[in-house]
Amino acid sequence: MPASRRTLFVTTALPYANGPFHIGHIMEYIQADIWVRHRRMRGDDVHFVSADDAHGAPIMLKAEGLGVTPQALVARIAATRPKHLDGFLVSFDHWHSTDSPENVELVQDIYRRLDAAGLVATRTIEQFYDPVKGMFLPDRYIKGTCPKCGAKDQYGDACENCSSTYAPTDLVDPYSTLTGAKPELRHSEHLFFRISAPEVVAFLERWTAEPSPGQALQPEVLNKIREWLGGGESGAAGKLADWDISRDAPYFGIPVPGHPGKYFYVWLDAPIGYLASLKAHLRGRGIDFETFLGRDDVEQIHFIGKDIIYFHTLFWPAVLRFAGKPYRVPDNVHVHGFITFSGEKMSKSRGTGISPDVYLDLGLDPEWLRYYLAAKLNDRVEDLDFNPDDFVARVNADLVGKYVNIASRAATFITRHFDGRLAYSDDERRHLVEGAVGAATLAVERYQARQYSQVVREAMAIADRVNEAFDDAKPWLLAKEPARHTELQAVCSRAIFGFKLISVLLAPILPATASRVARELFGLDRDFAWSDAGELPARISPYRHLMTRIDPRQVDALIEGPKAAEPGAVPPPAQTSAAPAAPAAATAPSESGSAAGGAPTVAIDDFAKIDLRIARIVAAESVEGADKLLKLTLDVGEGRHRTVFAGIKAAYDPATLVGRLTPMVANLAARKMKFGLSEGMVLAASGEGPGLYLLAPDDGAQPGMRVK
Ligand code: 2FM
Ligand code: ZN
Repeated sequence: MPASRRTLFVTTALPYANGPFHIGHIMEYIQADIWVRHRRMRGDDVHFVSADDAHGAPIMLKAEGLGVTPQALVARIAATRPKHLDGFLVSFDHWHSTDSPENVELVQDIYRRLDAAGLVATRTIEQFYDPVKGMFLPDRYIKGTCPKCGAKDQYGDACENCSSTYAPTDLVDPYSTLTGAKPELRHSEHLFFRISAPEVVAFLERWTAEPSPGQALQPEVLNKIREWLGGGESGAAGKLADWDISRDAPYFGIPVPGHPGKYFYVWLDAPIGYLASLKAHLRGRGIDFETFLGRDDVEQIHFIGKDIIYFHTLFWPAVLRFAGKPYRVPDNVHVHGFITFSGEKMSKSRGTGISPDVYLDLGLDPEWLRYYLAAKLNDRVEDLDFNPDDFVARVNADLVGKYVNIASRAATFITRHFDGRLAYSDDERRHLVEGAVGAATLAVERYQARQYSQVVREAMAIADRVNEAFDDAKPWLLAKEPARHTELQAVCSRAIFGFKLISVLLAPILPATASRVARELFGLDRDFAWSDAGELPARISPYRHLMTRIDPRQVDALIEGPKAAEPGAVPPPAQTSAAPAAPAAATAPSESGSAAGGAPTVAIDDFAKIDLRIARIVAAESVEGADKLLKLTLDVGEGRHRTVFAGIKAAYDPATLVGRLTPMVANLAARKMKFGLSEGMVLAASGEGPGLYLLAPDDGAQPGMRVK
């Protein structure tokens, strides 16, 4: 661990600007943010940036479907970012966009350098073309009949029925999912980055073995790379295929200089967006970008998920290396797994998962999630499971029951009997300080190695010891005997010192609480620095409430159903297989390649289980303490009124809803929410971006009529 001040350029993967953050994004940001905060607390100079990944066919098509320009769609999505980043206390120094002048300039510069190095080749390829839409089709927009088993409507790369893989051109009766047209095979000239060139492969072999002195990629990552790179024992070197980096118009991307009608493939310009964001950030700080990049002591670290290892450990370092100075190769790439929900893949359509939006709207404390994730994060590429019961138990038992409990108990005695003064005997001073410095040094190593779960375990072990010593001393009895007040003061002072140590250790995870502890309890005029762990405080201010327990009902309300990920309706129960996917506005397939809509096919019997009824909105009002919800009173023709909480406040003035008819799910299990009982769900259409549209029946429909 270098003791000197480090200069770090840290990024997280750039999210596609076609929808709001999901919980996977938030997990990555929290992981990186904890790392960055611990380095800042050590006094390092950290530049932590990210951006929206704006380009590509899916965003272009989605914008078209919404009747807006891609730039307008990107701007809309960008406007949703601060709520989540601020909400989960993610401390980026800058957030940018790949559709920015900085990125255009950097991408074109890097391309020219690669071309000058002889690493760009032009080749003619054959690709499916949609004659109705007038565009070449990315594979995900082609479906057809599986050539092996005959299953209909299979994607162009693999069959979901028999799992065989093939090329789109192998499909029987292929069609464009955009227009239904039969695609034609057409020729087009594409540009390729020659990653298979011997000098590039030789560089990648070196870089992947040791990205920078003393740094190593994770073993799981290296295994993957060996499969791709070949070499090693198999001796199968040279497996890498050259990388197609151009796309034909129409495409939302950065133009390729000297090749009219060609654009850079989104994956070429996306990582360069890291540099564009850094450049914009440095300009704001008055730092010259090229000088900064050219410094030997700068470390460049990328946090990413396991699905994009290939791009970040092969293409990206190769592009940077062969673009030449001042570009620099990454010093390391930190890879994490996915987040699962009670052991299952998070899925909006299956109603398994949690939505960051709903989490914040329900007013749940962001530090609960930060703590829970930290308690499970390590340096492995393994999935992390969010389990609601475990979440409640961990936060309540650890954070409130062990950690906060120390201060709330010990501070009361110190304030009441000693006017806030702390006292330590001479013998114990050295002992306490040495112990704290040792724990803090160990925690820095753990953080540096992304072993957050160990930091949490060790901090909680300290909390256990402090609580035990406190209970054993029975301060409530000492308080009753004035002759033993010196002892009482010593016991409580030790406990408060322990509390301070834990606060410093957990500050990267719980930045808001630690900041309050530093300022309110210990009277600092700044947040904690790492060195504060070993400072014995002389006095404290009266304790003020720090953190509440989670009410398990809050977590019930958090459990996401098909609609809750959108700024939509009431979170339905977790077991939503019988619940309908809410009608969605026409959207393009998501960048991840799932089908538009994404919900599994249901039989008519399944659909018939859903009792859809026409309701009249007899009253609509805002809900105190809920940003997004309206409380609707509905007449469903049953001789009584129902209450439904719907997440439609952003789109509707309650007064304009009164008297309207709208379909509702009448047999959805009633759900107890923070604000009251919700007895059903109204239906609204929405895409991935903002905008929400309640459904309405035609004239003549009456409350209580069945929709079928
Ligand atoms: O997989 C994704 O979500 C991409 N938008 C990540 C890009 S990371 C970087 F290369 F920009
Ligand atoms: Zn098949």
